[in-house]
Formats: sequence, C-alpha cells, structure tokens
Amino acid sequence: MKKTIADIDVRGRRILLRVDFNVPLDPNSGDVVDDTRIRAALPTIEYLRERETRLILCSHLGRPKGIDDSLRMAPVARRLSELLRSPVKTTDDCVGPQVEAAVKALGPGEVLLLENLRFHPEEEANDPDFARALASLAGLYVNDAFGTAHRAHASTAGVAAYLPAVAGFLMEKELTFLGKALVSPDRPFAAVIGGAKISTKMGVLENLLEKVDRLIIGGGMASNFLKSEGLEVGQSLVEEDYVKTARQIMERASQRGLALLLPSDVVVGDRFAADAGRRQVSVKEIPVDWQILDIGEKTTEAFVDALRDCRTVLWNGPMGVIEFEPFSQGSHRLAEVIAGLEATTIVGGGETVAVVERLGLEGKFSHVSTGGGAALEFLEGRELPGVAALQDKD
Ligand code: 3PG
Repeated sequence: MKKTIADIDVRGRRILLRVDFNVPLDPNSGDVVDDTRIRAALPTIEYLRERETRLILCSHLGRPKGIDDSLRMAPVARRLSELLRSPVKTTDDCVGPQVEAAVKALGPGEVLLLENLRFHPEEEANDPDFARALASLAGLYVNDAFGTAHRAHASTAGVAAYLPAVAGFLMEKELTFLGKALVSPDRPFAAVIGGAKISTKMGVLENLLEKVDRLIIGGGMASNFLKSEGLEVGQSLVEEDYVKTARQIMERASQRGLALLLPSDVVVGDRFAADAGRRQVSVKEIPVDWQILDIGEKTTEAFVDALRDCRTVLWNGPMGVIEFEPFSQGSHRLAEVIAGLEATTIVGGGETVAVVERLGLEGKFSHVSTGGGAALEFLEGRELPGVAALQDKD
C-alpha cells in the first residue's frame, strides 16, 4: 500500500502534483474533447486546495518532439478552471526563472498548471537535472497520474528522488480496484478481454489466466483462438505468430479447470466498413471472403449467462468494431449487463471506456480506469515505475 495525501499533513505546503491531463483536443478549435481525465483528478485537487496548499500541476500532452504550439496546456487549463470554478494560472515552460517566479507568487489554494513537460526531451529521458529542477519548485510531490505510471520519466519517477513522494486519490483508487482484482477478488471473478490485436493483450491474458474463474474472449483477437481450433476465419484479422500461443492459453485454461469462453457465432462483414454487408453465422460457417466484426447473439447471451453470478468483473477491450454502429451491438449489450451486476465491476482501456461513456453508464461501474497502457501493464503483473517511486504506508 502506498502512502497518500490523507496519510500526511499537507496543510499550507507547496506541492508538485503530477496529473495525467493527456486528453484529446479538437484539431480545429483546440478545445478539450474529452475531459474524463481532468475530472478524475478533481478529488485530489479540491482536497489539496481546501487545505490551503499552493498547487503546481504538471502533465504531458501528446508526444511532441520539442516545442509544439498545438500541444500547449492552455486549453486544458481553461477546462480545469471551468471545472474548479476558479482561475488556473499557466506558464510558458515547466522549469526556469519565469516558472520559479510564478510559483513564488502562488497564494494558498491557488493552482498553477505548468507547460507541457514533454517540450523538454529530458522529461522522457528521466534526466536527473531536469527532475531536480522540477522538484525544486515544491516541498512535496504527489502523483495522481496513474495513466502515465508505466513510464519511468522525470516527472513520474525521477522527481521522487528529491522530494517526499505520495499518491493522490485517483492513483490510490486505481491501485485499490485493479490491485484487489489481482490479489483478492470476490469470486467468481470473470475477465472479459477483447480488442483487435491479441499481441497487445498477451501479457494480460497470461497473468489473468492464473487469477480468474472465467475468461471470456471476444473482439478481433478471438479469431486467433478460433483459427487455433482449426476453424476457417475468412478475412478476419489473425496474427499468425500468436495462433500457437492462443492454443497454449486454451490448454492452460483447461489444465487449471477454468472456463474459457469463445464466440460460437459471430457477425461478419463483407469488408471493413460501417456499411459493409452484414450476416450472423456460426463460427463453423464463416465465409472465406468475409471477416468477423462483432460477436453474435448466441455468444452474447452465453457471455451474459457466464457473468450473471460473478462478484468481480474486469472488462478490457470491445467485442466488435465499435466505431461502426452495426457492429457495436455485442459490446453495447455487455456494457449494459455488466453495469447492472451486483458485483465489483471494473472497466479499462480507451475504447472500452468509450463504449461505456457513449451509453452514459460510467457511473454504474465500480471503477472506470483512466489508464490505457498503464492499466494493461498493471494487469500483466508488472510493477509500474511511477508507483514504485512512491513511499509505502508506515
Ligand atoms: C496515455 O494516454 O496512455 C498516457 O497519458 C501515456 O501516454 P504515452 O503513451 O504517450 O506515454
């Protein structure tokens, strides 16, 4: 367990707060399109403001190579200021004399958002001088950026060498929900794993295989499992190198006696497009010129049945091509069912969270993770550098 801002006396302190405000911007207006990550950090920011701290927020935005005017933090500061109903100051840089002056001028409860950390290559290089310069702005470091905790960068890991380092409430919530699912889940525990590419989910599948009671597999990646069973999958996306691994996962699941559920019927399209020809077929009858774009109705109901009595459900990866409405039905139905379960329900991964938000169901899940890559690495059982750098509870 990591120490949090609730475990120490923060009152009146000058705090460097690492947040993950890497949010999508509208390419035309430059405004924030999805403020989920900003809202997720509000409990920490508000708690610290109420305790009259001087708050120096820092984040990266996108993957700039040097200074990039389209990736400045100003639109994020505007949105944060609306959400806080209070001004948020900004700077043109994240270190240096102008920043030091802005920090000095901060009053109790005031918020300053530094410029994009990645305008300096030293951030991603975890350069010690850059980390020291960031640390020199404050007397305490708080990390609430779970979404970036898998990066060993100056602002996520390096800075902790120079300041006492504790977790914010979002970081704590992410570690509590995802950690409990891995270590001591209420059972039965099911994982629903989907998405297009099995290669990105291999580590997660291997780790969860040892933890869950039921493993439910959908999305494009299911094609690898079907192919490994000798089925014809037509034009569906198959990563040939992983077909054998899919077979091994199925064998290990059967050795462990856990239920591994695969699609028995699928919705296929005659091309990869929203207006493609659409048919529902058994997995034994996939036409050679067609491709799997969603799970079928029988499969959806079998998955739903397997989830009904679960006490913990973890969902990562959609069941079909959710950007095409006609191929979103499997994902939509599962989102609705999981949201209604009397269970600890956790959803992670950008696309899966997008499905849940599209249906307005985010408030019905126990936890909606703000981590994409970070959540995956955590679920793979890997230690995240941004978490390792924080102090343990006494
Ligand atoms: C994310 O969006 O997953 C995090 O903000 C990390 O961003 P990165 O993949 O550019 O390091």
